[in-house]
Amino acid sequence: MSTLIDYQKFLAERTGLMRASEIRELLKITEGKKVISFAGGLPDPQVFPKAELAEIARDVILERGDKALQYSPTKGVTEFRVTLLNYMKKKGIAVRSDDDVIVTTGSQQALDIVGRTMINPQDVIIVELPTYLAALNAFRLYRPTLVGIPIDDNGMKTDMLEEEVKKLVSNGKRVKFIYTIPVAHNPAGVTLSIERKKHLIEIASQYDILIIEDDPYSYFVYDEGVDITPLKTLDKEGRVVYLSTLSKILAPGLRIGWILGNKTLIDVFERAKQSSDLHTSTLSQFIAIESIRRGVVDRTVERAKMVYKKKRDAMLEALEKYMVKGAWWSKPIGGLFLMLRLPSTEIDTKKLLPEAIEAGVAFVPGASFFADGSGWNTMRLNFSYPKLEEIEEGIRILSEIVKKKLKQA
Ligand SMILES: Cc1ncc(COP(=O)(O)O)c(C=O)c1O
Repeated sequence: MSTLIDYQKFLAERTGLMRASEIRELLKITEGKKVISFAGGLPDPQVFPKAELAEIARDVILERGDKALQYSPTKGVTEFRVTLLNYMKKKGIAVRSDDDVIVTTGSQQALDIVGRTMINPQDVIIVELPTYLAALNAFRLYRPTLVGIPIDDNGMKTDMLEEEVKKLVSNGKRVKFIYTIPVAHNPAGVTLSIERKKHLIEIASQYDILIIEDDPYSYFVYDEGVDITPLKTLDKEGRVVYLSTLSKILAPGLRIGWILGNKTLIDVFERAKQSSDLHTSTLSQFIAIESIRRGVVDRTVERAKMVYKKKRDAMLEALEKYMVKGAWWSKPIGGLFLMLRLPSTEIDTKKLLPEAIEAGVAFVPGASFFADGSGWNTMRLNFSYPKLEEIEEGIRILSEIVKKKLKQA
């Protein structure tokens, strides 16, 4: 319906910071086309424990429906928070009491709550270069100064972090928090070594900085001998605010995430959440309690690990076989993604995407993962969602496009 109303003038200024994802727009072109997509971050639906979840949902509604279908506390259903504490203990994370836990509507809401309650305009926030795109978007709304620290195969380069923090401090700046995905990073799939984990905690302690640890992927580590210790386990001072989610280990549609941290912070997060959605779906929380209790989550993780390891290996093999010389790609030890860097800085992967889609393959251009706007010649490739048999063909097509482009550059 056409309208004469200028809606723009009714909107708050901050909506100008809520950028529509250009990538989403670009990827819309894939709709209705036969495209092998390495673009999303979706779990493989064959991993969802559909029959078990159907049974649990039925039991929960019929047997505990009076509670499961009702409103519930903003912090989360107490029984679920206690279940989470015990689940976290298995990962070596000891939380003092359920007062130190809040259930969120996915980790994405946790990121928004952190941004909303902690960032004043111009506060310095440190992130990895690259980092999770939607965390950058969530934080940007509160106008921080984002400072990026490069990563390598062992995660964030903490020596560079230390230099940067020293420089900022000597310029009279205070760093508020460091946002990190230490294990099985998104988008790179790399993991912070134990030495660097300790170094990171030391730096935070020395300069009185909080750490926001985002951990959706440490459950999906495919190789032996990799250190998957969450930073939270090394936290003696209550400096680490730990975020996790059932999205990748059970089902993202349930929208269940959580934050572990000191009660003082959790209480503030609770107030922020209250005005946003009152509470996370009670029904989802009851389903989650039973899924953890009945071992469905553990079994899903084991199944997913087998499926994703094969897919990761297929992608790495195909890259080895087809990708042009001089390209670099991360070797993910876990998670769902890898990062590919093309040998020429002349190639803007955002411009390459429409051509790739036309040829039958999609990816996410890398620049949006870089807080400093670099990374033009990188892309993120997801290996969990495409079918195993599509992966080699997708990488072959992508490599052909890159070769063609390099000849032109
Ligand atoms: C690093 C990271 N943090 C947070 C999220 C958000 O997850 P959810 O809101 O589904 O829990 C994702 C999802 O892909 C992610 O990769």
